[in-house]
Amino acid sequence: MCGIVGYIGQQDSKEILLRGLEKLEYRGYDSAGIAVTNHDGIHVFKEKGRIAILRESVDTSVTTTAGIGHTRWATHGVPSRVNAHPHQSASSRFTLVHNGVIENYMQLKREYLQDISLKSDTDTEIVVQVIEKFIQQGETVEEAFRQTLSLLKGSYAIALLDEQNPETIFVAKNKSPLLVGLGEGFNVVASDAMAMLQVTNQYVELMDKEMVLVTREQVVIKTLNGEVVDRSPYTAELDASDIEKGTYPHYMLKEIDEQPLVMRKIIQEYQNEAGSVKINDDIANAVNAADRVYIIACGTSYHAGLVGKQFIESWAKVPVEVHVASEFNYNMPLLSENPLFIFISQSGETADSRAVLVTIKALGHKALTITNVPGSTLSREADYTLLLHAGPEIAVASTKAYTAQIAVLAILAAKTAESKGHSLEFDLVKELGIAANAMEALCDQKEEMDYIAREYLSTTRNCFFIGRAVDYYVGLEGALKLKEISYIQAEGFAGGELKHGTIALIENGTPIIALATQGHVNLSIRGNVKEVVARGANPCIISLKGLEEEDDRFVLPEVHESLTPLVSVVPLQLIAYFAALHRGCDVDKPRNLAKSVTVE
Ligand code: F6R
Repeated sequence: MCGIVGYIGQQDSKEILLRGLEKLEYRGYDSAGIAVTNHDGIHVFKEKGRIAILRESVDTSVTTTAGIGHTRWATHGVPSRVNAHPHQSASSRFTLVHNGVIENYMQLKREYLQDISLKSDTDTEIVVQVIEKFIQQGETVEEAFRQTLSLLKGSYAIALLDEQNPETIFVAKNKSPLLVGLGEGFNVVASDAMAMLQVTNQYVELMDKEMVLVTREQVVIKTLNGEVVDRSPYTAELDASDIEKGTYPHYMLKEIDEQPLVMRKIIQEYQNEAGSVKINDDIANAVNAADRVYIIACGTSYHAGLVGKQFIESWAKVPVEVHVASEFNYNMPLLSENPLFIFISQSGETADSRAVLVTIKALGHKALTITNVPGSTLSREADYTLLLHAGPEIAVASTKAYTAQIAVLAILAAKTAESKGHSLEFDLVKELGIAANAMEALCDQKEEMDYIAREYLSTTRNCFFIGRAVDYYVGLEGALKLKEISYIQAEGFAGGELKHGTIALIENGTPIIALATQGHVNLSIRGNVKEVVARGANPCIISLKGLEEEDDRFVLPEVHESLTPLVSVVPLQLIAYFAALHRGCDVDKPRNLAKSVTVE
């Protein structure tokens, strides 16, 4: 994880770097720092905690037009000022920021740095110290940088300053995302285009094992073998207002509210003139040709994959397995003869998913990535991409990406079914439109959700979500939302599974949120609720209109039974939001987390 920025130009670099880091805080926020150059040398400011704390510590009288910055999600070494980036070499000549994990840092330390007493516990410091070692052996900076990079095992996006050459930022990338942004009389570096949208929308993508020399006027990309690479820039199609909160108190609330709009955008993007679903033919053919689909994802995206499996299996009649990415490489199932892999990832950068992509590409299999970020690593490296069109998702807790993933999976499944000659018995485009309206109606019922959150969750230490069939999958997502932002111990269970052990945890007043949106299991989930009520639980039943019963706490507007996850998750997102708010938690930046998980 972590985010890095760099700027070299004519304006005050401190402010540009700090603003860039504020936009990257979603990538980690346990410490932050910047290093800026001027005629006196390199000035480093770093602090434990948020960018706001760093901002307070920066000496505004330092004039500077070049520098680098970092926001950290700790991997090696606790969050502290000492472990915060930038890190400096023993002589302080070199200063470096890094996103990624250097797997062989202990070995490098043993081989090159026996005589150096390190200041921090990080893998990153090793890199800057090794660069200085090569300088001491008489290498040029570019050569010392290149030689160090070729020793590194693992992932990195690096920006380096040399006190003796303040006119250049040395940059490199392997596995961790990194872009170079171009401007008139300035150039920038960023983990994500959003960070530097304030100054440019022109970006050049970097590939793994490339290094770049960035000056005010020039960007020179080279491979680690020294070959110069010519690559054209692209325009980042992001609107700066997309990444502002506007009048919302939190990004999460804004993003929950955006869900109906995202649904409509998806319908527009994936609809043909005749009003039915449209998907690029190559993608439809690839799914068609597969004898089995393997969905690979993590967290919320994994939960969306579970819903997607239902669509693909029941509509297109193709068997689907859904796997947690971090397990797949170590516990690979027996693959079918002609598999298709679908990677679901909001960010398109998740390292666990990418590791599987690398493995399956090496085995010669085809991959489709469903992502919100065009040009992201998983998108670039897969054979095909379907975009979510959800707009930037900033809150750490994923909301609109989840519903967008479900909608795109539904469209993919419907298109595959159509090309296999299994036509759907309903009009998906129309039903998605109805679901969008229902989501909008739910977003207007915030007061009720706030009330439910207070009633059930303001003092509880735990909470269970139960459901059957697809409601079980949505319950898993509801539990994840609640635990990650409110820190209430929350778990999702298949309704019938509680009695096989977990029911022992039910005490007087334990909140149980039960979903009842599926006609064929309506009676059985209600039976499961009775079992826990008999043991003292406090039930909150959320049912679909048409299936409701007298004591249900909330009734969802009617939507097609296959698409209920799109609506049933909205109250769960809002309940989690209000529960976190009442408990005084930082909704957008929950503890220990980061938005984009770029370490395995
Ligand atoms: C939870 C959440 C995470 C992500 C997971 C995968 O709210 O956001 O569980 O879903 O880290 O991230 P992506 O989708 O970017 O691969």
